[in-house]
Amino acid sequence: MPKHFLMCRPDFFGVEYAINPWMHPEAGADRDVAVRQWEGLKTAYEELGHRVSLIDPIDGLPDMVFAANGALVVDGRVYGARFAYPERGPEGPAYLRWFTERGYPAHEAQYVNEGEGDFLTMNEVILAGTGFRTDVAAHQEAQERLGRPVISLTLTDPRFYHLDTALCPLDGHNVAYYPEAFSPGSRTVLCRMFPDAVLATAEDAGVLGLNAVSDGVNVVVNAEASNLQLELKRRGYEVIPVDLSELRKAGGGPKCCTLEIRGEN
Ligand code: ARG
Repeated sequence: MPKHFLMCRPDFFGVEYAINPWMHPEAGADRDVAVRQWEGLKTAYEELGHRVSLIDPIDGLPDMVFAANGALVVDGRVYGARFAYPERGPEGPAYLRWFTERGYPAHEAQYVNEGEGDFLTMNEVILAGTGFRTDVAAHQEAQERLGRPVISLTLTDPRFYHLDTALCPLDGHNVAYYPEAFSPGSRTVLCRMFPDAVLATAEDAGVLGLNAVSDGVNVVVNAEASNLQLELKRRGYEVIPVDLSELRKAGGGPKCCTLEIRGEN
């Protein structure tokens, strides 16, 4: 039940380039506010009884706070990230090193993939996004490396450039998602797989409400996603709202800041 998360303090956070439509370098971002909000997220996890490990932030990597992108860890095995944009390139080896130094079996990826940003693990399958960042060939590679079936889903709206901005696993079996972020074929797949899914509104998706973290009982979600919070409560979930508005200026929310270390011995 308690989860193990890897996070990275946003000591060098900033909006210094634009690799997604949320980022406006000319408007900048307040690092102190980002750190305070990030501390709030870390505290929320700890109060829920989850374990948080930290990776040292690196000067010059302003997006390194978005730990979800650093790797995919399933059954204690690590499939490393290979970033689409050179601005974030060095984060891949940095995260991989964190795991290898601690003795995790780790694979360097051959294909472009942004870790848990585009790979979301359910009980039976891994849902994998493509269209903006992660190469569909990486879906095959992850399946081969991790021995879990991988279902490819195509993202079509540039605001929802990672799967974790458009879909959130609620437990091992059900999800919340924003249908309009997906190709028609992928929407049909999602309808078939998750007939009881929580469907998010454009307003909820537009504040990165789906970039949430659920442990199956509690859902940590952006405070502004009010419809989604109501619907989750109606379904019996405990909702923990957090304010990560400063990190949203880089296109990230709670899930982006959180890499789940799954299934260690
Ligand atoms: N600025 C970062 C990027 O565009 C944000 C990453 C958000 N991470 C996520 N898991 N969606 O790469």
